[in-house]
Amino acid sequence: MDKAEKVMNLAMRRGFFWPAYEIYGGVAGTLVWGPYGVLVKNKVIDLWRRMFIYNHGFLEIQAPSIAPRIVFEASGHVDSFRDVMVTCESCGRKYRADTLLEEAGLEVSEALPLEEFDRLILENDVRCPSCGGRFSKSTYFITMFRTTIGPYSDAEGFLRPETAQNMFVEFRRVYEDFRRVFPIGIAQIGRGFRNEISPRQGPIRLREFDMMEIEFFFDPRDDSCPYFDDVRDEEINLLHEELLRSGGSEYETMTLDEAFSRGIIKNKYLGYFMVLAVKFLEKLGIPRENQRFREKLEGERAHYAVQTFDQEVKLDRWGWVEVSGHANRSDYDISRHIKFSGKELFAFRRLSSPKKVLVKEAIPRPRVIREAFGDKIGVIMRELSKYKPIEIYEALDKDGFIEVAGVRLGSEFFDVKVEEKVVEVEPFVPHVVEPSFGLDRIVYAVLEYAFREVGDRVVLSLPPIIAPVEAAVFPLTRDSGLVELAGMVYRDLKDSGYMVYYDDSDSIGRRYARVDEIGVPIAITIDYRSLEDDTVTVRDRDSWRQYRIKRIDVKTFIDLVLSGSGFVEAAESMGLEPL
Ligand code: ATP
Ligand code: GLY
Repeated sequence: MDKAEKVMNLAMRRGFFWPAYEIYGGVAGTLVWGPYGVLVKNKVIDLWRRMFIYNHGFLEIQAPSIAPRIVFEASGHVDSFRDVMVTCESCGRKYRADTLLEEAGLEVSEALPLEEFDRLILENDVRCPSCGGRFSKSTYFITMFRTTIGPYSDAEGFLRPETAQNMFVEFRRVYEDFRRVFPIGIAQIGRGFRNEISPRQGPIRLREFDMMEIEFFFDPRDDSCPYFDDVRDEEINLLHEELLRSGGSEYETMTLDEAFSRGIIKNKYLGYFMVLAVKFLEKLGIPRENQRFREKLEGERAHYAVQTFDQEVKLDRWGWVEVSGHANRSDYDISRHIKFSGKELFAFRRLSSPKKVLVKEAIPRPRVIREAFGDKIGVIMRELSKYKPIEIYEALDKDGFIEVAGVRLGSEFFDVKVEEKVVEVEPFVPHVVEPSFGLDRIVYAVLEYAFREVGDRVVLSLPPIIAPVEAAVFPLTRDSGLVELAGMVYRDLKDSGYMVYYDDSDSIGRRYARVDEIGVPIAITIDYRSLEDDTVTVRDRDSWRQYRIKRIDVKTFIDLVLSGSGFVEAAESMGLEPL
């Protein structure tokens, strides 16, 4: 049994996650996060929010998962979000062509033309993993879930494959509502949906998963990054383009400063978020040496990106697996949404010196329009609102009227102005870098790194801040005095906001073993001495060492352990008596 299987067994046995719809035979690529899994996920989200959003004063939104087709036409997904698929001519099963070739030991780029996939499959005699049959010619498969919005079959929509498009579509609203603060990070945590062709990697490749994404909007003319200096000496592991092109497969470790000055990472914000991503995973228990950034080469990158690094984590069964993507999306998305929506999704930059400009505009005069057209004013005003004041001015100037809603309006219906104005700002299309995290993969990786076997026992050594339950409370026996005091300790901790577990069944050894398996960092036991001197024992999940502590000090101790100071260090710093 490999580690992945052991972790998945534990996850199913102890309520972290399991395959969905099992009673109906299951659906590949779907997962249920069980009660302990949800607790861990929520804590990982909390940490991410603190490190990535609150720490920088970024703004978080929650927008719909479903979007009308035009959004993904604008974003380019309708044309580009697709995988190459082959069908087995014998059993009819369908597979991703690149995955099949990779499993056959061939490194292939997703950007190869279809004929190349066909040639490689034929030349390497790649057969159906299920029945050994031969494959049909490859085709493209759109990996977005398609639906209709409401009962009209022409109102086509898609479930979002990334949360990012919401941030682009809502950019102008957030920017204006928050007094044009710039540069600005807009974040979202929510579901992404991808109709993966044949997901066969358990929790790693899902059809519906949680994403944590930031679109960071900045001015391309301003290459300073206020966060860069704080992390310039941090080391990161890079499998960068130069290494990949020379056939390298081992990462090179360098400081962020070096990566930037050698031109490997081309944007300071991108580099800053990459370092932060390393620190984030470290806090979750994934050591730096088992993390790397693999650069995506031309042709491998998503259609919107000018530079991308995948943050990968080394997993036992699947090798290096991407857990977050870091892309410089330039002005691609915003420019496309400007083009498709016709709206001005600009940011404004201050000019070095104010500029005089001639402003020409024609503003509708509602009172005059009503006098002439009565109730038709509603539709006229609505139609006029589709034009900018300068466009109305130009129409009046050229034709002497503008025609809307079937009526011709001459200049008497407008306040026509030609004025010299002093402007201090100019509009520009913001550029974007994006750190994009897949929560489910991260939580799986965290569980795998926390998983330890000690003899025939399993211990889940999760970092205390993300442990699903912070403390367990046990009366040593079912003696009523002990049960009563243990109940008080339990309720007191619960009332103070801790996640606490109570158990008075079985032997104390079995109870310790159970909470070790779900990663509870502190087990508190109430014994006979507790009744005499109001002390209890605290036991470390990882070293199994025990200390005696005054009941009144338990919360301070838990807080110390949760703050990351280590169980034994916390016990020693509080001068606790070892047992
Ligand atoms: P892969 O190459 O593994 O298919 P991707 O390049 O499509 O991944 P991105 O488009 O960069 O992934 O998505 C951002 C993040 O979302 C990834 O880093 C990953 O953590 C997560 N993710 C993507 N696809 C899936 C999936 N099918 N199941 C679970 N998580 C996913
Ligand atoms: N938003 C990045 C991605 O989905 O790949």
